[in-house]
Amino acid sequence: MKGKTRRASPRAGKDKGFRQGLATYGDAEFSLFLRKVFIKAGGYSDDALERPVVGITNTASDYNPCHGNVPDLIEAVKRGVLLAGALPMVFPTVSIHESFSHPTSMFLRNLMSMDTEEMIRAQPMDSVVLIGGCDKTLPAQLMAAASAKRPAIVLPVGPMLVGHFRGEVLGACTDCRRLWGEFRGERLSEADVELLTERLAPTKGTCMVMGTASTMGCIVEALGMGLPGSGSAPATHADRLRIAEATGKRAAEMAIAGGPTPAEIMTPAAFRNAMAVLQAVGGSTNGLVHLTAIARRIGIAIDLGEFDRIGRAVPVLVDLKPSGDHYMEHFHWAGATPRLMKEIRADLDERALTVTGKPLKAAIDGAEMVPGQTVIRPRTAPLKAQGGMAVLRGNLAPKGCVIKHSAATPKLLVHTGRAVVFQSLEDLALRIDDPDLDVAADDVLVLRQAGPKGAPGMPEAGYLPIPRKLARAGVKDMVRISDARMSGTAFGTIVLHIAPESAVGGPLALVRTGDRIRLDVPKRRLELLVDRAELARRRKAWRAPPPPAGAERGYAKLFQETVLQADEGADFDFMGPAGTRA
Ligand code: FES
Repeated sequence: MKGKTRRASPRAGKDKGFRQGLATYGDAEFSLFLRKVFIKAGGYSDDALERPVVGITNTASDYNPCHGNVPDLIEAVKRGVLLAGALPMVFPTVSIHESFSHPTSMFLRNLMSMDTEEMIRAQPMDSVVLIGGCDKTLPAQLMAAASAKRPAIVLPVGPMLVGHFRGEVLGACTDCRRLWGEFRGERLSEADVELLTERLAPTKGTCMVMGTASTMGCIVEALGMGLPGSGSAPATHADRLRIAEATGKRAAEMAIAGGPTPAEIMTPAAFRNAMAVLQAVGGSTNGLVHLTAIARRIGIAIDLGEFDRIGRAVPVLVDLKPSGDHYMEHFHWAGATPRLMKEIRADLDERALTVTGKPLKAAIDGAEMVPGQTVIRPRTAPLKAQGGMAVLRGNLAPKGCVIKHSAATPKLLVHTGRAVVFQSLEDLALRIDDPDLDVAADDVLVLRQAGPKGAPGMPEAGYLPIPRKLARAGVKDMVRISDARMSGTAFGTIVLHIAPESAVGGPLALVRTGDRIRLDVPKRRLELLVDRAELARRRKAWRAPPPPAGAERGYAKLFQETVLQADEGADFDFMGPAGTRA
C-alpha cells in the first residue's frame, strides 16, 4: 500500500503488515485493493496501514467473568503497540469459562486452539498478543501459537483478589470445594451457601489459588512466553495494566523484528524449565496434560518419567492453596515467578530464550527480593520435600497416571483398600449419597468412563465426593482413582489421568467392586491386586461402551474419533507438526 510518511516510523516490509495473507481472488493486486477499500471503512489512514500489525485476541465474554478485565487490558496493550509505532488489530476468538462449558471446558480446549490458530493464520498480523486466563484458555492459546508459528506473546488476565467470610480469607475454588464438603456434612446451612456465592469469587480475574489458571500463568513465564510478573499480578491492579502496555510494546518490537517465534522460545529446555516450575509451585495436574499438548504441537514429546524425576529433585516451595495457605496476590507481592525461579535456578536452563529477546536468566536476575516474605520458601526449607506431582505406573495404569501428592493426606499415600466402583458419572451421581451404599473410609473409590473419549472431554470429576454418610461421620479424604481430571484447586488423595482410559479398554475397565487396589506413591505404583488369569478372563468378556450421545456428527464426532489419551496431551491426533499423526 502507498502512503505518505509524515515522520520516521516503522514500516511493514514486503509481504508484511496488511500485505500478507491476501484473500484469494486470482489477482493479488485486486485482493490488496479490496482489502484497503474495506479497512478504510474503519477510518484508517495510509500511515496506519503501512505499519507492522499486532493482532490482539479478544476473549471477553459475558459467559466468562474471569476475563472481565479483558477490555481494559486490550486498551493498555493497544497503547503499548501504538507507542512502539505498530498498528494494533483486535479480533475475537472462542472464550471458555469453567462453569459455563458443557460438558466440560476440556472438550472445547482443542476447538479454541484451532480457532485461535486459524484466525492468526488467516488474518494479516506480524505478531500476536494472546490474552487469556481461565483454565483452558492459556493452554489453547499456547497450542495455537506453537502451530501458527507467528511471533506471539501471552498476557494472562491475572488472578482475582481474595474473598472474606466470617473473618476467614477464602479462595476460589479450593474453598468452594472445602465449604461444599462442609455443607454436605451438614455443618453449613443453605443460607451460608447462598452468602458464599457472593464471597468466593469477589473480583474479576482467574481463581486465586494455585489452580490451573494460576499454574498456567507461572508456566507462561517459565516457558518464556510472557513478561516477568505477567502470570501473577492481580487482575484488578494497576500493575496488570502496565504489564499489558509493556506486552503491547514488546509485541510491536517482535512484529518489526519478525521474531522470536514460538518455536525459538518453546524448546525442550523451556519445557524442562516449565516442568520444574510446575513441580515447585505445587501446580495443577492439568498443567501436565496441557504442557504435553503444547509441546506436541512443536514436535516435542514430554517424558512423564522425566517429569517425575524433576519432581523428586525440585521441592514445592510456594505456600499457596491447595498445597499451602496463601493466595496468588501474596505470591505476586513476594516476588512472583522470577523469585521462585531464583530459588530453583540450579534446576533450570537459564540460557533459554524468552519473548523479551533475552534469556530466562535476565528475568531471574531481575527478581524482586522481598524481605521477610514467607510465601516463596527457600530451597533449604521447602513446603514439601518433593515436587507437587508424582507419575505412577502399574497394572492399572500401563501408560501412567498422576497424583498431586502435595495436596494429599500423607497417611493415605501408601494404602491398600477395597474397590468401590462407579461405572460412570451418572452412576456416581445416582449412588454416592445412597445411605445403603456399601462403603467404608478405607475403601478406594473408583470412577471410570470419565477419560478423554469416555465422558467425553475428561471432565474434572476425579475429585469424587466423599459419600454423604461418611462425610457426615467426619471423613475428609479417601483414596480416589479415575481416568478423569481434577480441578487444580482441589485437594485429596486422588489419582488421575489413568491411561489408557476405561472407554478404550484400559485396565480400569476391568476393576470390580470388592477387588483390592494398592497405591504406593513413594514407589510410584498403582496396582490392581487381581491375578493375571482372572484379568484375562475379564478382558475377554469386556465390550466397548457405545460412544457418548451426540458423537454422531460435528465437533463431537471429530473429538471422539481423534482425541488422544492423557499421556499424549488429549489433543487431536492430527494437530502435531505437518506430517505427524499419532
Ligand atoms: Fe476461571 Fe477458575 S473459573 S480460572
